[in-house]
Amino acid sequence: MTQIKSLPLATRRAGEFGVHSLNHFCIAVPELARAEEFYQAFGLRTLGQRDQLSLYTEGNAHRWGMIVEGSRKHLHHLSFAVFEEDLKPFEDRLTSLGVARIDAPPGVESNAIWFRDHDGTPVEVRVAEKTSPDHKQFGEFSSSPEGARGAPKRSEVQLTSPRRLAHILLFTSDVDRAINFYTTVLGLRLSDRAGDNIAFLHGIYGSDHHMVAFVKSEGPGLHHCSWDLPSLQQVGLRAMHMADRGYAKGWGLGRHVLGSNFFHYVRDPWGSYAEYSSDMDYIPASMRWEAGDHLAEDAFYVWGPEPPDDFGRNYELGN
Ligand SMILES: [Fe+2]
Repeated sequence: MTQIKSLPLATRRAGEFGVHSLNHFCIAVPELARAEEFYQAFGLRTLGQRDQLSLYTEGNAHRWGMIVEGSRKHLHHLSFAVFEEDLKPFEDRLTSLGVARIDAPPGVESNAIWFRDHDGTPVEVRVAEKTSPDHKQFGEFSSSPEGARGAPKRSEVQLTSPRRLAHILLFTSDVDRAINFYTTVLGLRLSDRAGDNIAFLHGIYGSDHHMVAFVKSEGPGLHHCSWDLPSLQQVGLRAMHMADRGYAKGWGLGRHVLGSNFFHYVRDPWGSYAEYSSDMDYIPASMRWEAGDHLAEDAFYVWGPEPPDDFGRNYELGN
């Protein structure tokens, strides 16, 4: 059995606790075979069992994503992880806030804690190891000395697989309610926001600038899942590889303002996106990050092509 490491006492803050990681996300889609093809091309390992598909990164036993069968694509549930010593305080918090417990969704094997978020999405909280990074995972950029070639030969270049799930961006009917629920109930912290249009949340025990983010829509949904790559070069190579495999639609290459990551979004078969991300800002456990409220035009991206017209459209609403 995996040993669940606790947080060193020195980095705990008295009376404060929260989830430490996004354990996994789950979407439902009409055709698991299309999902398998897409995510394998994207660079993930997939494992099909009965009527569901699990998403893994190379060399890592952690399941980052689950895909189940459904009549249409929709956000199915979210799973967050806590340290063992935070479980009882967390249960007490749910009771004191009047958050009703629910059963696990049909077909999901879990005896952990379940409830619904502000938009009605089922959320699981379980004891599990910390999969959010403990330190910044740098995006590498290598230059070359004078008198040497810097670029590899195209015929010899190697693709690298994503290292881990980096974050997810969720549609929500109300960004303020999302911030309130996910900070008050789950113990995440606000990193930055742009008015009531978008908000980014990080983990109290050290995480990337955002583990979960919310963007305004008419209802819930998954806008994108984001996967960490070790270099800007790999973001470019992976984007080209996806285009070669028939997944040329998307947005990138660019650099975000909030989070600072280099990005390339690949459009998935359901109108949402899987993002390649590199060099995201990191907020250590010891730091109280000062959240900013930014102008929309100054918060989205520093540079990159124009985003697609429907980049912010929530296709899960079916309109
Ligand atoms: Fe992202």
